[in-house]
Amino acid sequence: MSRVWNFSAGPATLPEEVLKQAAEEMLDWRGKGLSVMEMSHRSPEYTEIFEHAKRGLVDLLSIPETHDVLFMQGGAVGMNAIVPMNLLRGFDAAAFVNTGSWSKKTAKEFAKYGRADVVLSNDADLGQFKAGSYVPDCGALVDSLKSKKYAYLHFCDNETIGGVEFNGQIEQIANQLAFPVVSDMSSNILSRPIDWNCHGLVYGGAQKNIGPAGVTLVVIEKRLLGRSIDHCPSAFDFATVAENGSMYN
Ligand SMILES: Cc1ncc(COP(=O)(O)O)c(C=O)c1O
Repeated sequence: MSRVWNFSAGPATLPEEVLKQAAEEMLDWRGKGLSVMEMSHRSPEYTEIFEHAKRGLVDLLSIPETHDVLFMQGGAVGMNAIVPMNLLRGFDAAAFVNTGSWSKKTAKEFAKYGRADVVLSNDADLGQFKAGSYVPDCGALVDSLKSKKYAYLHFCDNETIGGVEFNGQIEQIANQLAFPVVSDMSSNILSRPIDWNCHGLVYGGAQKNIGPAGVTLVVIEKRLLGRSIDHCPSAFDFATVAENGSMYN
């Protein structure tokens, strides 16, 4: 069988040896007589699989002790609602950088929970660069946001559809902001090192670079846990999910 080259922005090609191992283990996981889909999530076998996956991410991304790794569900679009429900306690607004369709969708969903202030965008043509095709200048953000009380600043590190990818511009100013930075890294997570000092929360749908669709990776600074609004569902409350090792449900 010849395998195709897949340059799609969606799910990516997996190494053949990974697919072969998964296929073999689907019938019998390491001689245990059952597959991962059939075993209890409380069993020592599954605990080992889970811890191995988490450790792999922590190692690959050099995630420090200050941050927790959560595996959740609902995809990155689910996070558009889950993040506000988790970080809005005591705030009525958040700041948004719009660089394309994914970040716009995030701000639109946020507006159900609070005021979504678009503080920077690439909506205008800029000389030779067409609207939606460039990373806007982040330099002025520090001064313009100085007196603002936002729950967080959200940006999409790689706008998968328009192809606009940041190259550390937000990281450069993150520590001068009075609130945490939240980033959607669905399509470029694991493609480069991340400076965790600059990120309060990183999330991403797993389907492009990590695993099956629906699984959502959340890396959150521990000090941001426990800020959920009262009607945040327990299954989506980061603190509850963290306390239960991503297995509250
Ligand atoms: C940058 C970005 N954000 C969000 C999403 C939506 O992800 P999900 O399908 O996991 O909700 C995608 C897409 O596939 C994406 O590329």
